[in-house]
Amino acid sequence: MQIIESVAAMQQLSFATRRSGRTIAFVPTMGFLHDGHGSLLREGRRRGDLLVLSIFVNPTQFGVGEDFEAYPRDLARDRAVAEAAGVDVIFAPRAGEMYPAGYQTYVDVERLTLPLCGASRPGHFRGVTTVVSKLFNIVQPDVALFGSKDYQQLAVIRRMVADLNMPIEVVGMPIVREADGLALSSRNAYLSSSQRQAALCLSRSLRAAKELYGAGERNVATLRERVTAIVAAELSATVDYIEFRNGHSLEEVVVADDQTLLALAVKIGTTRLIDNCLLGEG
Ligand code: PAJ
Repeated sequence: MQIIESVAAMQQLSFATRRSGRTIAFVPTMGFLHDGHGSLLREGRRRGDLLVLSIFVNPTQFGVGEDFEAYPRDLARDRAVAEAAGVDVIFAPRAGEMYPAGYQTYVDVERLTLPLCGASRPGHFRGVTTVVSKLFNIVQPDVALFGSKDYQQLAVIRRMVADLNMPIEVVGMPIVREADGLALSSRNAYLSSSQRQAALCLSRSLRAAKELYGAGERNVATLRERVTAIVAAELSATVDYIEFRNGHSLEEVVVADDQTLLALAVKIGTTRLIDNCLLGEG
């Protein structure tokens, strides 16, 4: 496994790989790897000849007062996880090389980024689409893998790739959870053990909504009441949003169907967690 820090060296390796007829699978991350990242890497290993993992805590997707400085970092551990997953190359650029002095170009996906995390984190998706475009240009992947844990991010990336004619297959992967239901996240590292318990209200309320939906309930107002009650029962939880949206357009819905996305963002103490499901999924 190689670690590459320079943009030029990464691009050179990518071009040489493509010229030799080998395919490139790519998993972009911000590091502090867990098994959610692991599942993307294992699928990437199957799909490409060269498997590239990027680790870059991207400053442009963090808002003022968010956790850019505090975001957990552990390159030594990430190396071991990457090695075990069969990664060929870790691309870990320095911020100064990604955003040198004079930098002023951004990629903006419009309507899809307005609701949900786009509404609570202004500028967040502009940072995501910009860095992912840059990483795509540097790594030149045939296929790129993203998790549906960040459902809106995956939808936004798919839109960007289609709209800008990027010749890349985007693969979405299911959410990996702990045995008790908590969705894996690098930010779970911020939680105390009592907060870790409280954080189960997200997955618990998703399960309850799916059950109610499965029993025939289609009224979003009723489903929302159930979810809200479960989250409100946790004293340390503050709702950022609880939303029912069309799983493709992300437009609001009032009558649920199998493709309705239930998306949650909840703060446990000061840690903002997200989770989601499609009501019709098993
Ligand atoms: P990060 O939060 O490190 O996530 C990297 C990838 O792992 C994303 O595609 C995310 O959806 C996926 N992922 C995280 N937790 C997961 C889980 N529990 N199950 C399945 N997949 C999971 O998302 C980012 O980084 C950044 O925004 C990035 C795309 C790298 C751009 O900076």
